[in-house]
Amino acid sequence: NIYVVVMAGGVGSRFWPFSRNNHPKQFHDVLGIGESLIQSTVKRFSTVCPTENIYVVTNREYKSLVNTHLPELAPDQILKEPVGRNTAPCIAYACFKIAQKNPNALVIVAPADHVILREQAFLKCVRQGVAAAGKENILVTIGIKPSRPDTGYGYIQYVPDGAKAVQKVQTFREKPSLELAQAFLESGDFVWNAGIFIWNVQAIIGAFKEHLTDLAELFESGSAVYYTADEEVFINTVYEQSRNVSIDYGIMEKAQNVYVILGDLGWSDVGTWNSLYSVAHKTLEGNVVDGNTLLYNTQNCIIKTPQDKLVLIQGLHNYIVAEHDNVLMICERKNEQQVKDFVSDVKANK
Ligand code: GDD
Ligand code: MG
Repeated sequence: NIYVVVMAGGVGSRFWPFSRNNHPKQFHDVLGIGESLIQSTVKRFSTVCPTENIYVVTNREYKSLVNTHLPELAPDQILKEPVGRNTAPCIAYACFKIAQKNPNALVIVAPADHVILREQAFLKCVRQGVAAAGKENILVTIGIKPSRPDTGYGYIQYVPDGAKAVQKVQTFREKPSLELAQAFLESGDFVWNAGIFIWNVQAIIGAFKEHLTDLAELFESGSAVYYTADEEVFINTVYEQSRNVSIDYGIMEKAQNVYVILGDLGWSDVGTWNSLYSVAHKTLEGNVVDGNTLLYNTQNCIIKTPQDKLVLIQGLHNYIVAEHDNVLMICERKNEQQVKDFVSDVKANK
């Protein structure tokens, strides 16, 4: 009864030069462990449900990349979007389609591009979430203890009840201003939304009908064509008509039946180079190294270079050195926010 929906349509622009439109972050071996983020994500669920219940939703451009990274998935387990319309249409497509096959399905929705170091702790959260979502029509999130007033996350305020694993959510606030994020952090009542959701399909379909009525109507109208040869054409027209809206703004901020499970998961969305640094294995000198390198008096750097190029570095501290696909970037770690500007400058100079 359990299904997993892996969201793999994003482009991850801050993780440049690795993340590119034609080869986004989820298809990279970001940690240098011999598997891409999407491969780790699917592997993480191998004990949760049979492989044939795992669906990947991605842009149709990435279909062959998904095939290469996940040869164990059959073609009909890859749901192709003609354009990215953010996470709400992505989730609606997968959940309305799954409901067609199995109206009692329990669905775990997970991003393809996150790192989770503590697999057992994660599986425990998943089991608790699945158990709760199997009993009630609720929307279960996973909450991470926040460490900084990051404005790129959703913030979840819950009603602490020590005895329960699954806690009632009071407020869900997506991407707050810096002032609000600071206040949330100081209050101690909030956790970050990990972006992983657990629900039964009836609960999420109910939430779409209540809060994103237009999307519910669009995707429900496909009930006769899902799993047929007409699905692709149908989906192409539906996406033309879909708005761009995330599940967080569209549903989680509004729904009253949201719950959270707190997890200490070694979680990172590796959205930036420094967030990679915080979860990756470090040498004694504090370097995160993936490449063929000789380092002298070099500390606290992130070095990610091609295996077929010998890289020698002397006297470098707190830098990112990253080479990929004919781009070499050398940037101070503390200025990683500028990476986004590099990307637009490079595009402008093309
Ligand atoms: N298939 C598909 N189509 N996938 C998509 C699309 C789309 O149009 N847009 C985004 N995704 C995928 C991304 O690849 C990523 O894996 C996931 O959905 C979440 O999208 P992001 O764009 O990365 O969202 P975010 O980081 O701004 O915010 C979300 O994640 C945070 C945690 O990392 C929210 O859920 C926040 O509340 C949360 O804190
Ligand atoms: Mg993200």
